[in-house]
Amino acid sequence: MIHELPPTPVPITNGAVDTSPIGLTPASGVDLDPIWKAVVTETRTRGNDIHLPISLAYAERLCAAYPDADDAIVRVAILLHDVGWARVDESRIISEGFSGDWKKAQIRFEHEKQGCIIAREVLPPLGYSPEFVEAVCAIIDGHDTRHEAHSLEDALMRDADRLWRFTTAGIALASGWFGMDPATYTDRLYEQIIPELLTEAGIAMGRTELDRSTALLKTAVLR
Ligand SMILES: [Fe+2]
Ligand SMILES: [Fe+2]
Repeated sequence: MIHELPPTPVPITNGAVDTSPIGLTPASGVDLDPIWKAVVTETRTRGNDIHLPISLAYAERLCAAYPDADDAIVRVAILLHDVGWARVDESRIISEGFSGDWKKAQIRFEHEKQGCIIAREVLPPLGYSPEFVEAVCAIIDGHDTRHEAHSLEDALMRDADRLWRFTTAGIALASGWFGMDPATYTDRLYEQIIPELLTEAGIAMGRTELDRSTALLKTAVLR
């Protein structure tokens, strides 16, 4: 079930937030393994086989901080949100998706639409109800191009989608996509992406992880 989005940043409702390195708490359980297995091919595009597992681990931490949220919807939405990249023209991912006004590039709308198509292919045979599938697709559709989150679950998926970028793995991959050195790229994460986070828990996790990564990568000196 989808819950109304409280005013943002959403206050933490469940005590302490886990800001330890994300590698200490991989995504738990095996309940989503059938979905993973159904989209292995789609994880081979655009670093999805790094991005999606790390973001799922963050989504689970966020759901622990916001126990009112429907964690099944958040977890499945984050797992599938970017698989649509596998069905768009790969050469356009870098040429359009990471340059100019990249957030409004047509290819971003296309990867969202294709992600919904894949979710509607993959989830029903695994026993997910039509209502569940549509709740997941409502979050996937527009996750990069829509300005506002529509629900608490939507907001948690959006923060999980951003949090992986602050890890060294995310910085290593995405700085290359944007053609930036790590210092320039992480400066941009502080200026542009931290302010986009929608939950207090996400902000705490994101700031801590980005501070940790920039210290590790010595971006104060290597610039
Ligand atoms: Fe995306
Ligand atoms: Fe993403």
